[in-house]
Amino acid sequence: MLVRLMYASRAADATDPETLAAILRQSKANNGSTGITGLLCFSGGIFLQVLEGGRSAVSALYNRIAADPRHRDVVLLSYTEIGERRFAGWSMGQVNLGRLNPALLLKYSETAVLDPYAVSGAVSMAMFNELVATASVMCQT
Ligand SMILES: Cc1cc2nc3c(=O)[nH]c(=O)nc-3n(C[C@H](O)[C@H](O)[C@H](O)COP(=O)(O)O)c2cc1C
Repeated sequence: MLVRLMYASRAADATDPETLAAILRQSKANNGSTGITGLLCFSGGIFLQVLEGGRSAVSALYNRIAADPRHRDVVLLSYTEIGERRFAGWSMGQVNLGRLNPALLLKYSETAVLDPYAVSGAVSMAMFNELVATASVMCQT
């Protein structure tokens, strides 16, 4: 029983590149053993993350993440039962925003700024799919 979950959150004030690197390190270390795959995007103080895996594993991880003091305003954007994974290649891939084409953001939102709070979950998911299709994801493991 596989599910895909997407949420958005706002980083705690002190989020710096080292904090982000620590989160990614921790995610990759844990997700391999629990069978979780997905992507983490961080831009302008906002996290957007997709988690895929077994229903129990995704649910347990989401609850743990939601209680993490490194971010706040965690909002569930999408939860779907799925037949197959879309991000199977990443224990937790990081979206490379340096390579992000502003036109991609503009395609899906009013301005070229990542703001999942301003668009529907379906729109954020469509953008993620396109990021993967255009190979804008790094840290493949
Ligand atoms: C934005 C964000 C994304 C996270 N993503 C993951 C993740 O994919 N996998 C994971 O195990 N922990 C993730 N964490 C960390 C968890 O909240 C929690 O600290 C961690 O799972 C605890 O792991 P530990 O018991 O090995 O210390 C994330 C935290 C934040 C703030």
